[in-house]
Amino acid sequence: MPEKRIVLRNCGIVNPRDINSYLEKEGFKALVKAREEMDPEEVIQEIKSSGLRGRGGAGFPCGAKWELARKSEGQEKYLICNADEGEMGTFKDRFIIQNDPFSLVEGIAIAAYGIGADNAYVYLRAEYRFLADLIKNAIHQAKEKGFLGELNIVVREGAGSYVCGEESALMNSIEGRRGEARFRPPFPPQKGLWGKPTVINNVETLMNVPPIILKGSSWFRSIGTDESKGTKVFSVSGDVERPGVYELVLGSSLRELTVDLAGAKNGAALLVGGAAGRLMPFSIIEEPLSFETILGAGAVMVFDKDRDIIEFIYRTSEFFAEESCGKCTPCREGTEVMVEILGRLARGEGAEADIDTLNDLSKVMAATSLCGLGQGASTFLMDALDHFRKDFESRVDQSLFLKRLRVP
Ligand SMILES: Cc1cc2nc3c(=O)[nH]c(=O)nc-3n(C[C@H](O)[C@H](O)[C@H](O)COP(=O)(O)O)c2cc1C
Repeated sequence: MPEKRIVLRNCGIVNPRDINSYLEKEGFKALVKAREEMDPEEVIQEIKSSGLRGRGGAGFPCGAKWELARKSEGQEKYLICNADEGEMGTFKDRFIIQNDPFSLVEGIAIAAYGIGADNAYVYLRAEYRFLADLIKNAIHQAKEKGFLGELNIVVREGAGSYVCGEESALMNSIEGRRGEARFRPPFPPQKGLWGKPTVINNVETLMNVPPIILKGSSWFRSIGTDESKGTKVFSVSGDVERPGVYELVLGSSLRELTVDLAGAKNGAALLVGGAAGRLMPFSIIEEPLSFETILGAGAVMVFDKDRDIIEFIYRTSEFFAEESCGKCTPCREGTEVMVEILGRLARGEGAEADIDTLNDLSKVMAATSLCGLGQGASTFLMDALDHFRKDFESRVDQSLFLKRLRVP
């Protein structure tokens, strides 16, 4: 059975407004164990040994990031929980926070203890404002019970920007600057928020921390594949009978997720990992979901045979252009050119040369964009051209046909 609840273990079981209900389910035991039985370095070692990798999209090894921040010079360090969840088709972090905010607070507290941070932020996307009180309540109750000690956790609300989920733009946003990506190096664990060593982790990454500390790294390592340990929480939407949030052992197949669990019937295409993920033909569904193969932030959108995939590709390019922060030229101008050309093709007014131009554009954007937004837009475009070229070409044929009709 591919479904396994580690991250979602308490969802629907604990009362998200009452810490006592969480305490009945071993709540805060991991934090107490970490503080009373382990040095911060041991906590980091345990997370490193577990093989936990970031669930926000890039899959960076979590323990290594913590270690880098811990070893960076300076007393003042920060932890940021990335709850921006702006990726197209993703809604798992919302589900997690709505159902189990105490585990998140516990994960944040353990991470802060490991890296040596007295201050932490939860960066919440603007559209999730309705969750702010729930998190603040969880922080308040944990503080009242004495679990947080000197740790100060602040909830910061975004202003509705996709790029502010990108870690360096996110830090700018917290600092009150324009939400634009920063040049790297230095990386956040060396020089992050307010110039201090900073760890940024996704909500789901931090949710894995309490069970790892409580049950041990070897338990966690026994789940998943060689390079992808544990489970992944997926947000499934689109043309499926049972859209929703599913937690599966890493290495489970796309078929198990989309067909067996979510009930896809006539799939033609898949967007895996959101707009910055991969656009694929449905024929890849035997592929395992893992960092070695295909994963991203865990969004899976299914398009059936009746969908106009070119229209979707065009609409997504509009999303990228709208959300580009504008700092680097390849992304700012490239995404606008994508919209222009894809719009032409979608309306049946394109030419064969447009497809070649898009191909060249995607290569330039991949090589020169400052952050994952421009790079993601380029991967999306490359996938679109690689896997749906025939659909593009048929639009060109269609445009030739339309032009001929107009000629007297
Ligand atoms: C355009 C863009 C948007 C992103 N949005 C998010 C987001 O909403 N949530 C998130 O956790 N990571 C997001 N990321 C990835 C973050 O930059 C970062 O890698 C992540 O928060 C690190 O946490 P992790 O190591 O726990 O995955 C985004 C990246 C890019 C390029």
